[in-house]
Amino acid sequence: MPRLSYLLSLTPRETWRILRHRLPGLRGGPTWTASELMSSSKHARGIRFAELLARQEAIVAQHQPWGPLDFEGKRVVEIGCGPLAGFGPLAIFRGAASFESAEPEWDPALLRDPSVVDTYLRIFHADLVALYGPRMDFATFRDALATRLSIHPCGFEVAPIDGAVDIVLSQSVLEHVFPLDDTVAKLAAIQIARTRFLHLVDFGNHYPTASPFDGLYERPPEAYIRQRGQAINLLRAPDIADSFAAHGISAVLIPARKLADHASGTVDGWWRERYDDDALFTQLALVVSPASGDSAA
Ligand SMILES: C[S@@+](CC[C@H](N)C(=O)[O-])C[C@H]1O[C@@H](n2cnc3c(N)ncnc32)[C@H](O)[C@@H]1O
Repeated sequence: MPRLSYLLSLTPRETWRILRHRLPGLRGGPTWTASELMSSSKHARGIRFAELLARQEAIVAQHQPWGPLDFEGKRVVEIGCGPLAGFGPLAIFRGAASFESAEPEWDPALLRDPSVVDTYLRIFHADLVALYGPRMDFATFRDALATRLSIHPCGFEVAPIDGAVDIVLSQSVLEHVFPLDDTVAKLAAIQIARTRFLHLVDFGNHYPTASPFDGLYERPPEAYIRQRGQAINLLRAPDIADSFAAHGISAVLIPARKLADHASGTVDGWWRERYDDDALFTQLALVVSPASGDSAA
């Protein structure tokens, strides 16, 4: 019973958050607290966003010409940045003119909480200095965050983010949005030819099971979502590519982790009729802007 043992390893609050997301009829989790975030091995490490970016850009560069994203003077948007502003501090440190995001669970008090400032932001800043050079001291960094970050506590599809943007990012969000089409329509409204984008999508079950596909394909997606709640939309990589194409966005799909040999459990006919093994057993994929202009640095 790996899922039960996973739940038992969590704090009661974390368990409640997951159950609230998973159980139909109980939408939304409890709000985050600073102490909960600072004791999370995932959320307490801001530099993980630099690590994610470096890894993802390296994977993209295996498939097409891809110069590192240049944030200097750029207008940057992230979908669903999470409780501590996601890629925002990194983008601002690297010179972004502005960073905007829409995050339904956003609470601005968290990034100002003394424990977050003194641990998360201070360490994140020190790590950014080590990685990208002494571009700004901590006081300047904090001032820049205060003036250049703008995060809306709502879904991206309805966020007041308008006009052309230079860079769009998301990290494990496109598999959580309902419906994806509204999110991609919003992207189409703010993207122009020069916009560079990088979205990481996780197609796994989001449980720490032996295979990330455990239980995922035993029934059609509607039945899975009915039973587990609106946590993941169960769209596969080709669906995301189709949605981008339908909205006139030229995008390249790059597998970042294929696990065909790792599949387990039965695959219902519904899935077999619609998807090949590549689509079924690619756990991580990147959806990126095609090589052009400054991307081919
Ligand atoms: C797995 S978390 C990833 C958070 C963050 N990107 C990270 O990597 O830490 C998924 C995030 O998507 C957000 N989300 C869900 N639906 C959204 C929507 N319609 N628009 C923007 N964000 C959304 C959730 O609130 C949540 O913070």
